[in-house]
Amino acid sequence: MTLPKVELHLHLEGAAPPAFIRGLAQEKRIDISGIFAADGSYAYTDFWHFLKVYEAATSVLTSPEDYHRLTLAVLEESAKSGVVYCETFLSPDFCGGRDLSAWREYLHAIEEAGTQAERTMGVTLRGIVTPIRHFGPEKAKQVALCAAETAGRFVVGFGLAGDEKVGKPGDFAWSFDMAREAGLRLTCHAGEWLGPDSIRDALRDLRVERIGHGVRAIEDLALVDELAENGVVLEVCPGSNIALGIYPGWRKHPIGELHRRGVKVTVSTDDPPFFHTTMAREYDRLAEAFDWDEGVFREIARTSLDAAFCDPDTRARIAPLLEPDHA
Ligand code: HPA
Ligand code: ZN
Repeated sequence: MTLPKVELHLHLEGAAPPAFIRGLAQEKRIDISGIFAADGSYAYTDFWHFLKVYEAATSVLTSPEDYHRLTLAVLEESAKSGVVYCETFLSPDFCGGRDLSAWREYLHAIEEAGTQAERTMGVTLRGIVTPIRHFGPEKAKQVALCAAETAGRFVVGFGLAGDEKVGKPGDFAWSFDMAREAGLRLTCHAGEWLGPDSIRDALRDLRVERIGHGVRAIEDLALVDELAENGVVLEVCPGSNIALGIYPGWRKHPIGELHRRGVKVTVSTDDPPFFHTTMAREYDRLAEAFDWDEGVFREIARTSLDAAFCDPDTRARIAPLLEPDHA
């Protein structure tokens, strides 16, 4: 579908085209051939293996220049799908090993690629810094310091990625408090691998305004009502959930029901090549599964932009691009 789109949940390394990662591995003579299937796509068996494959793929990204190239390659795909505004998760764990001065260099390269893509491809990029949950709360504190030091026009948010089954959101409260005090807006993965209580925990203990995934709220209709009443935004990634086996197919995905019950749902790809998806494909499959028309998708794009963490001027510049009369 060619409608203008806003994407809020995208892991930068997870969006790396496999050919790009393979090319870098060859240049650097790093052997990661085991992470690819015969057809060249990424190969993994389940979410936990996916996290390992993800980290192996990321191991070939060793310089700010690599991240500059990666960012351009990723945004090229976004632009092809009609994305006009995108927020991406950035992990100082992978970009310079949580060292602040290295992080600044990586960030500068990513931001510069974003500026270039805005000029040449018409897609605006902003960053959400995320510690990796299974690396533990102590490392997350270093990540929070990196985030707080670089908060501003480009780094607009703070989140939590990685294995949802390790630890509790509350273990990361110190880091989220630091990020909030630095003016960053907050989101957290929850309600993907664990049930409704994980969403309640993230909302209560981290005071986040968006939830990454959050789809398993559907198992507790009182929570669904609460999310709708409080305007909590869900960064829903249906293709990711289906690829990882959380739901058996598009028609069985709860996004339709959550939307019908008044929850603010948005649509993203998570790690698109891993899940054999794109933003255009997500829209096409949703249109088929739920009979959603252009009006629903335009409403979702507006909801997404309202929930974006960018400054008001950026939002005001993007808003007209989402409207039908835009040339
Ligand atoms: N979920 C959680 N953590 C991640 C993901 C994801 O899809 N991708 C990279 N880290
Ligand atoms: Zn994710």
